Amino acid sequence: MLHLMAPIAFSFAFFSSAVNALDVSVPLSSSGAVTVSPSLCSFSIEQDRWPDWAGTTTKNTFFYNALENLKQITGEPPWIRIGADSEDHTNFNPATEYADDIFPNYTATVPYPEASNITVGSKFYQLVSRLPANTHVWWGVNLRADNITAAYLETKAIVQAFASSAVKSAGITLDFLEIGNEADLYVNNKGRVAPYGPTQYVPEQVISHSYAARCSNPLPSWVNIATNVSSAAGLSSTSSTKLIGAAFASSSHTTTGMSPQGIFAAGILKTKPGALITTISQHHYSGSFCSGNGDLLQNLMTKSTIRSNLTSFLPDITASQAQGLDYVLGETNSYSCHGAPGVSNTAGAALWALDYLLYAPQIGISRVFFHEGIGYKYNLIQPVALNRSILDGSALAKPLAPHFQPAYYAAIIAAEAIGKTGSTKAVELTIGSPTIAGYAFYESGTLARVLLINSKAYLSTTTTSRGSVHVSLDFTGSGTTPRVMEMKKLIIGHADDTAGLTWGGQTYETSTGLVSGSESALVTLVASGVNISDTEAILLQFLPPTAGLQERGCRLKSAEL
Ligand SMILES: *[C@@H]1O[C@H](CO)[C@@H](O)[C@H](O)[C@H]1NC(C)=O
Ligand SMILES: *[C@@H]1O[C@H](CO)[C@@H](O)[C@H](O)[C@H]1NC(C)=O
Ligand SMILES: *[C@@H]1O[C@H](CO)[C@@H](O)[C@H](O)[C@H]1NC(C)=O
Ligand SMILES: *[C@@H]1O[C@H](CO)[C@@H](O)[C@H](O)[C@H]1NC(C)=O
Ligand SMILES: *[C@@H]1O[C@H](CO)[C@@H](O)[C@H](O)[C@H]1NC(C)=O
Ligand SMILES: *[C@@H]1O[C@H](CO)[C@@H](O)[C@H](O)[C@H]1NC(C)=O
Ligand SMILES: *[C@@H]1O[C@H](CO)[C@@H](O)[C@H](O)[C@H]1NC(C)=O
Repeated sequence: MLHLMAPIAFSFAFFSSAVNALDVSVPLSSSGAVTVSPSLCSFSIEQDRWPDWAGTTTKNTFFYNALENLKQITGEPPWIRIGADSEDHTNFNPATEYADDIFPNYTATVPYPEASNITVGSKFYQLVSRLPANTHVWWGVNLRADNITAAYLETKAIVQAFASSAVKSAGITLDFLEIGNEADLYVNNKGRVAPYGPTQYVPEQVISHSYAARCSNPLPSWVNIATNVSSAAGLSSTSSTKLIGAAFASSSHTTTGMSPQGIFAAGILKTKPGALITTISQHHYSGSFCSGNGDLLQNLMTKSTIRSNLTSFLPDITASQAQGLDYVLGETNSYSCHGAPGVSNTAGAALWALDYLLYAPQIGISRVFFHEGIGYKYNLIQPVALNRSILDGSALAKPLAPHFQPAYYAAIIAAEAIGKTGSTKAVELTIGSPTIAGYAFYESGTLARVLLINSKAYLSTTTTSRGSVHVSLDFTGSGTTPRVMEMKKLIIGHADDTAGLTWGGQTYETSTGLVSGSESALVTLVASGVNISDTEAILLQFLPPTAGLQERGCRLKSAEL
């Protein structure tokens, strides 16, 4: 243990040249830590293929297990947003059973495009009963199509589904309706004509379909549709269902452009339906790359760009919280284009997702909804068998069974770090390293766990030896200094691997989506510190001084305690 006390220069000499040493200060008390939701990691589902996720004649057990795994760990299932781009291409027809989709042709770049036209029936919404008990749901209805009747019929069917005994007895709740997806892109995607900013988006318009009226005062606003939708759903200040605000693709961060500040300035919260907004949702991707490489993967994983991607929303978060509103990333993932091939679907993306997820609440983002669609490259979950490659659309020799992509491990690890208390607090550790990030977790004010992430990409093409950093924990502040800890590692072959990860010796890469293998958690002395390799994550759970060491298969000699 002598080397732990040694200065850094000595450590360099002691270890091989690839080993570095880092002292990390860990506060023993939770002051400065923020409460982290047990459902911090939530999901946004592209609704064109929602019946595939839920399962029609029978429940999709793979998807169910994916959610239930997380619920078992934190006590609360992930929240589910259903809608996204396809919510604005959806109409309702009572003669449709689940959904009739019209898809554009697929391409090598977009092997699984979103449907351009979706017609749904009542059973489409009733499939929500397939989610784990007590799931909180939010659903999107159509704003872009300029068809109040479509939004109205969808809303009626949604409300009816949530009033059914199957959904009610499972405790599955409709927490939000979202009216329109990414309205800030409507001019680009020809849903509206310019100018289209907060002063067109928000206020009540006199709707007329006469040619002259459309030219001067084109289409119904958010308030027009929201007035109808909130009335159709019976929403009020006391109802448990509320409305989502914004759901924009990006943000101008100004009071004149499309942003939370912009729609507040245009008076949205003072309108009758706008008063039902309790949460602002922002969409975000780290960039748009339709092809990938190792450099791009390292960029994604880089500690500083993860932080700058999120802190760019600080003005919006502050403005939303000043109005008493919650702020979430209602749709997010690595790179748009449904992900960059060889990047979004890799183990490195799991480390990105883990750090991104845990950093978000540090700056006031209360929930992160990872966007998922059938066959998307950035999915955590691939819930049905795929017939063509997610990377280039080429035909697969045999269908690829439902499976998890590496980023699913991020959801599991974050869940274990947050734990089951429902009131765990977390703080980012100040670590003077561009590649090591860390968080401390507190239960009832007591330090319970530390998570460390090494985001240096060790690629299959890396020719130098894999680096490792020796981390010593220095406890600060008042509280009992832990002496013994249990360590679980996310073992990754290479950052660009697409499978073969293990978490504490176990795998989630099974046909059922249930964990397999026996857990291996090493019990060690805190004073020994840990070595964290490039492209690795480690969760340290602090144990009471001597309790239960034998039962945990402790490898420590009692003399060491
Ligand atoms: C889709 O592909 C088919 C067959 O190649 C072609 O006939 C059709 O025009 C394509 N549709 C679109 C929208 O590009
Ligand atoms: C969408 O499809 C339905 C059913 O095929 C059709 O009636 C409707 O006109 C289509 N809508 C658009 C906008 O293409
Ligand atoms: C909402 O729109 C539907 C369909 O156009 C209409 O029947 C209903 O009366 C409207 N509700 C309100 C409150 O305007
Ligand atoms: C609007 O939606 C309704 C209900 O599905 C449909 O009957 C109608 O044709 C749609 N209007 C337009 C202009 O697409
Ligand atoms: C977001 O992250 C990407 C790397 O994934 C980086 O290229 C981009 O500059 C970052 N954006 C901001 C605003 O930090
Ligand atoms: C794969 O092909 C089968 C058989 O044609 C089909 O039922 C299934 O929907 C296809 N899967 C996807 C994801 O399109
Ligand atoms: C860290 O790695 C060094 C060098 O390989 C080794 O001597 C040391 O025992 C390791 N420490 C721990 C805590 O695993």
